[in-house]
Amino acid sequence: MNKACRQTDVLVIGAGIAGGTAALRLAEAGLRVTLVTRAAELYESNTYYAQGGIIHRGPEDSADLLVSDILKAGAGLSNPKAVRILAEEGPRVLNEMLIKRLNVPFARAADGRLDYTREGAHSTERILYVGDLTGRAIEEKLVERLQQTPNICIMSRHSAVDLLTPAHHSRDPLDVYEPLSCIGAYIFDQETRRVETCLAKFTLLATGGLGQIFLHTTNPPGARGDGLAMAYRAGARIINAEYVQFHPTAFYHRDAPVFLISEALRGEGAKLVDERGRPFMEKYDPQWADLAPRDVVARSIHHEMLERGTDHVYLDLYTHMPADKIKERFPSIYEKALFYGVDITKELIPVVPAAHYFCGGVWVDEYGRTNIQNLYAAGEVSCTGVHGANRLGSSSLLEGLVWGYRAAEDMVRRAPEVSLFPAANVPPWDDSGLHETSDPALISQDMSTIKNIMWNYVGLVRTTHRLERAIGDLRNLSLEIDKFYRRVRLTDALIGLRNSVQAAIIVTDAAWSNRQSRGCHYRAS
Ligand code: SIN
Repeated sequence: MNKACRQTDVLVIGAGIAGGTAALRLAEAGLRVTLVTRAAELYESNTYYAQGGIIHRGPEDSADLLVSDILKAGAGLSNPKAVRILAEEGPRVLNEMLIKRLNVPFARAADGRLDYTREGAHSTERILYVGDLTGRAIEEKLVERLQQTPNICIMSRHSAVDLLTPAHHSRDPLDVYEPLSCIGAYIFDQETRRVETCLAKFTLLATGGLGQIFLHTTNPPGARGDGLAMAYRAGARIINAEYVQFHPTAFYHRDAPVFLISEALRGEGAKLVDERGRPFMEKYDPQWADLAPRDVVARSIHHEMLERGTDHVYLDLYTHMPADKIKERFPSIYEKALFYGVDITKELIPVVPAAHYFCGGVWVDEYGRTNIQNLYAAGEVSCTGVHGANRLGSSSLLEGLVWGYRAAEDMVRRAPEVSLFPAANVPPWDDSGLHETSDPALISQDMSTIKNIMWNYVGLVRTTHRLERAIGDLRNLSLEIDKFYRRVRLTDALIGLRNSVQAAIIVTDAAWSNRQSRGCHYRAS
């Protein structure tokens, strides 16, 4: 990284919709931005894999109606102020950024008007989509624009290691008495294997979620709780960490990686059925049936599987949609399932719930500001309170867009009053005594232990005994990982392992402390 990238106005960590939108707004306003991602490709993020779509405002819709749907899905825990911001500003920001500026090719009807679909717990059609690859279409346009924009230093294959705060890192010990603030981060360059000090007036965490700490997840490999763990170590306030949303329908196949079967299939009429093809959702939720909120659907499937002694259920799309329409509307799901021998135009789709979205995160206000001065967070790593105890489908891309945008506006306003922390006061990363390299087999075994603990003890249905067992096992593992971390040279996988165990402990502690079932946190005892 050259010096200009190492001493910048804003360090953005993560390049999905939240980080990418913020970087674009900041650079266009004349601020110097360093955008880092641990992935090899800039587009590789949770955003890229979002299938269903993004909430806009449908023909029969209003901000009030969206507020009411989000509050209901959130099971009484959503932050009304944040929900109102999303519902009122969302369509405007989406029009400006995604439609007018980036020209995202959202589906349109024959007359050229935007076409809207719906998902579970939405009371009207209001979701824009691009086939079943909405996130990919958005992310590709965003990345294209980021790469053409001056003032942005793009660094892929660079993993953030720790946030820098004077209280923890300054050479001046008296800085410990100052209010907590963030002055940048230590960044690991995966090619040179060196850790660089990146100083910034502002730092934006946009690192996504933590699905990868669970055995079965719809999330890509980077969703390992990096941002959450770094923020926690720096002293950020974390809230609602017990609320991990399980998507009801991930593809189930012994030889296939878990992949998402979008809720949009149910939005377009598909029904959950048992092995004999009998629908079962009306029994659990007579009003919404298959379009009930995700927590209700995921638990109903869990219950159905326990009762029938099966390890999956099915989704019936083909009796509700003609084959040619299925191929046109869900081309990627059709191809992927066919690859594993399931023709969704003629057969039932085997599905099972999988960890999907972290509703909690780093507490932020209406501009994405955390409790640490000059540290912002946006997207899944943050908790604005919009999602409460259970997220409404297709709201997360919009939240990332709106809070990425608002965080950027706030930084632009504040930039003239903030100065860079003096480089001479921050010691460089010291790994002088470390020669041992880490053994990938140990890292992968520890990672698999974390995933199994989280899946078996901190999954869809939680009990005091399971949670206590999980906390004990995770704390022991964390001590081992910490010793290992201090002894060997860094790798990206080791950074991920350290963050994953930390994130797992954060989620488990929160789940253990809260005995009340609500939304996607369900305590059987
Ligand atoms: C889906 O397509 O079902 C996922 C969309 C979302 O999680 O918002």
